Amino acid sequence: MTDDVLVVHGGTPLQGRIRVRGAKNLVSKAMVAALLGDSPSRLFDVPKIRDVEVVRGLLGLHGVKVTDGDEDGELVFDPANVESASTDQINVHAGSSRIPILFCGPLLHRLGHAFIPDLGGCHIGPRPIDFHLQALREFGATVDKTPEGLHLSAPNGLHGTKFALPYPSVGATEQVLLTAVMAEGVTELRNAAVEPEIIDLICVLQKMGAIIKVHTDRVIEIQGVPKLHGYTHRPIPDRIEAASWAAAALATRGHVEVLGAEQADMMTFLNVFRSVGGEYEVTDTRPPRPGQPGQEGGIRFWHPGGELQATALETDVHPGFMTDWQQPLVVALTQARGLSIVHETVYEQRLGYTEALNSMGANIQVYRDCLGGTPCRFGRRNFKHSAVIAGPSKLHAADLVIPDLRAGFSHLIAALAAEGTSRVYGVDLINRGYEDFEAKLADLGAQVERP
Ligand code: EPU
Repeated sequence: MTDDVLVVHGGTPLQGRIRVRGAKNLVSKAMVAALLGDSPSRLFDVPKIRDVEVVRGLLGLHGVKVTDGDEDGELVFDPANVESASTDQINVHAGSSRIPILFCGPLLHRLGHAFIPDLGGCHIGPRPIDFHLQALREFGATVDKTPEGLHLSAPNGLHGTKFALPYPSVGATEQVLLTAVMAEGVTELRNAAVEPEIIDLICVLQKMGAIIKVHTDRVIEIQGVPKLHGYTHRPIPDRIEAASWAAAALATRGHVEVLGAEQADMMTFLNVFRSVGGEYEVTDTRPPRPGQPGQEGGIRFWHPGGELQATALETDVHPGFMTDWQQPLVVALTQARGLSIVHETVYEQRLGYTEALNSMGANIQVYRDCLGGTPCRFGRRNFKHSAVIAGPSKLHAADLVIPDLRAGFSHLIAALAAEGTSRVYGVDLINRGYEDFEAKLADLGAQVERP
């Protein structure tokens, strides 16, 4: 732990330009989809982050040859020799990511059985997988829970089904998609998640030969096909990373251009960013013309000077305000005049990180009630899932320990915004989802160093 520390000299506005690549929460799923093809797939703009390494490792164990393509960030997947892996080998990846649960459907289709290790991911609540298992059973899979992990089989094959999710879970919707595309017959999924990353996964599967209709009102209909082939795909950019840098620009009173950021996927964030007093400009991509170089577009975010204004917001499934945008933005809200209210409705325990902000001088109170919005699933269940942020507060330096990925980035932003020198421990966790974040910090003029 002691070598995994970043010393942050705060108080300098972040200024400059960085680039985001393919969305972590699409890329990892597109990699799993490659298992379903009977020919190679090619994915571009893959960020070098820990979750990608975990999925690459698991694919490799199952006989998928993964190689680097010609372009930086290009991966090629050859699923010609898909094979079983031993539970010991798979268990090396236990606790490292939540993506392994999505291997169920593809492995059942390719091998007739699957072993899934204990899952990892961020500690932001219990994160059950009951919807996933319920859906897999609906398709005809049998699930055997053992102390070492989950053993699944499909003795009578996988068959299309009609299924409604109790909540529009991103992962469970992906589970259904990755299973239904090659299940026999038609699947109708109701109350599905429709995040841009899901739509992009549907695009990947469609390129592979799947037949998927997205109806209104969260209904997705999938007509199973017996065979899928490989895909070539450039993923949507990482809208969580883009918003994280935007929040960092606002909290440090800086100016950051995020190349690659896509307005359409970030509309809700942009509305909130503007309503608290941040400014942004969408810059278009221009192809090269004779005598003129091209220009990559993105979004420039900046603090226009003066004071930020408090706001009330509620995290929600798409098209709502993403739960992963919440932690970075709250740091900026500590600098806004008045009382801001944040109601977290996606995860029951995603406000624990506010204690660290309070230790730096912020004034944030957390409540069990559903504040400022509609009652949610957590209102009567004793979870502190609403926050009131009184600002502006002058942040001072502190020693911080990173609890999870997004909260970790918010700690980092707080340290950058604070006066004085902070020590941020456990920063390696940030590499799970932010490519080259230390190099990007350097590009933005942050005063950070490894001791
Ligand atoms: N849920 C259940 N049972 C299930 C599945 C989910 O009760 O079987 C509940 C969860 O406990 C949670 C809610 O449903 O309260 C939503 O969870 P969801 O399944 O949508 O989340 P996920 O698929 O596990 C993905 C992202 C998260 C992101 C959420 C919401 C990946 C790898 N992770 O998680 O991203 O916060 O969707 O958008 O795609 C991150 O990137 O840091 C991250 C945590």
